[in-house]
Amino acid sequence: MRKPIIVGNWKMNKTPSEALEFMKGIEEVLTGEEAADYGVGAPYVDLDVCVKNAKNLIIAAENCNEKDSGAYTGEVSVPMLKEVGITYCIIGHSERRTYYNETNEHCALKAKRLLADNIIPILCIGETEAEYDAGKTADVIKTQLAGSLAGLEACEVAKMVIAYEPIWAIGTGKSATKEIAEDCCKLVRDTVKALYDEETGEAVRVQYGGSVKPDNIREYMACEDIDGALIGGASLKVDSFKEIIDATK
Ligand code: 13P
Repeated sequence: MRKPIIVGNWKMNKTPSEALEFMKGIEEVLTGEEAADYGVGAPYVDLDVCVKNAKNLIIAAENCNEKDSGAYTGEVSVPMLKEVGITYCIIGHSERRTYYNETNEHCALKAKRLLADNIIPILCIGETEAEYDAGKTADVIKTQLAGSLAGLEACEVAKMVIAYEPIWAIGTGKSATKEIAEDCCKLVRDTVKALYDEETGEAVRVQYGGSVKPDNIREYMACEDIDGALIGGASLKVDSFKEIIDATK
């Protein structure tokens, strides 16, 4: 049985004091008895305050560097995240792929390094609107997965979370229908099965992301191959994240 996992992605939002306010607001509604895992991905400077104030909420970083240390100005390594107490890390988000040239090869190296320190990668994949319109969605999903999982063992992939986020649905309010989301999340699982084996595909948790809101999360969560959601805008306010928790716990 896969445990559902709902993670907010704050992107470049919230100062440490705003992060603290959010943590207090959300922690009071979580008991640790929920059927799902809940978490937030926060900017680096917010991670310490988030971890120190987290009781039941998972705290994820939004990026990492695959190298351990060195002359890489502005970068943050996995040992740094580990020492702060981070347990999950988003990699390969479409915004990082688009604006910062993050590639499938980077994702594979980052995932390997994170897993070596028992930090669970949340690997993001998904097609652009032009690729969707051209009927290339399945090819994009398969190519991104093959490249981003290269060099990983089945037992490593089984621990991971993979977020299918069609770029045309991110921040647009144009969420994928539950049928499209389910078909693509099933394709993610089937691709993992093809690259590894049945057991690994059944174990990996697959999220849908893209304009998920309190009023549509239930329909995604009811789909067989969707194990959770990666949520941008609707994760920023305590009230809307609480509504999402209420709708899914
Ligand atoms: P929105 O929920 O704002 O569409 O963002 C989705 C996303 O990019 C999560 O990683």
